Amino acid sequence: GKVAVLMGGRSAEREISLLSGAGVLQALRACGVDAEAFDPAERPICALKDEGYARCFIALHGRYGEDGSVQGALELLGIPYTGSGVMASAVAMDKVMTKRLWQAQGLSTPRFVWLQPQEQSRERVRAVPDELGLPLIVKPPREGSSLGVSKVRGDTDMDEAVALSARYDADVLCEEFIEGEEVTCAVLGSGAEARALPVIRIVAPEGAYDYQNKYFTDSVRYLCPSGLPPEEEAEIQRLTLAAYRALGCRGWGRADLMIRASDRKPFLLEMNTSPGMTGHSLVPMAARAAGLRYEELCLLVLESASL
Ligand code: DAL
Ligand code: MG
Repeated sequence: GKVAVLMGGRSAEREISLLSGAGVLQALRACGVDAEAFDPAERPICALKDEGYARCFIALHGRYGEDGSVQGALELLGIPYTGSGVMASAVAMDKVMTKRLWQAQGLSTPRFVWLQPQEQSRERVRAVPDELGLPLIVKPPREGSSLGVSKVRGDTDMDEAVALSARYDADVLCEEFIEGEEVTCAVLGSGAEARALPVIRIVAPEGAYDYQNKYFTDSVRYLCPSGLPPEEEAEIQRLTLAAYRALGCRGWGRADLMIRASDRKPFLLEMNTSPGMTGHSLVPMAARAAGLRYEELCLLVLESASL
């Protein structure tokens, strides 16, 4: 039956989702799949049922797409969809909930302070560097693509960083900065079949791995194979799979991590349950390194669609 590629949506990552969706749509069609674009921001989601779609490929990023809400709607409509279910999507969208779950499983993630709206007084905010040290990272807990993220170097930058983050999310996440290397690791499959793809090492000039440079410039270098020692690569893959399982993810996902320079210890930053599929995105890059073309990756993800 017909496949809907869900793309666009209402989140701040709409623009990126349209790029991901366009890539997926083209690839599925090239494989002979009867696929059409569907933007939930433009049509009620129940139209999927009325128009007879048999499956959905979710290429939405951020809230109202990657956060369990669309997954819940599709459960109600009875239409199988790609990626994680309602709970894993909802938890993974929220970096605070994600970190709590990982901590409970003994999986390493940077120390953090969570500030709800009533805790964002100037005094409270300025006390955060005493707890986490400097520099530190301030970010909206339910956002993606580095939107609203700041690296804070002095106490006085805290106010501005919190104000920027609060433009994207009422809650603010302050996180210990891990000095070291940034890596990402994708997972394909579910349950016992889940496997980690080769690790990608991201080499960007200081502070330059931001929204603009993630998608619209060529100033970031991506190393895959990562060039990490084999035992480090394997440890990142093990940790990523454990993180994926701890959240109850299925289908596919991508963890972002830091490797601390001082002792090479890896730290989990987040899990993306609807990873980017743009020309600059990381899962397609890792898949290619594993011998999987973009079209094959799209088919594989589509075939994992379930309820
Ligand atoms: N949030 C973006 C789409 C990613 O993680 O790839
Ligand atoms: Mg993300």
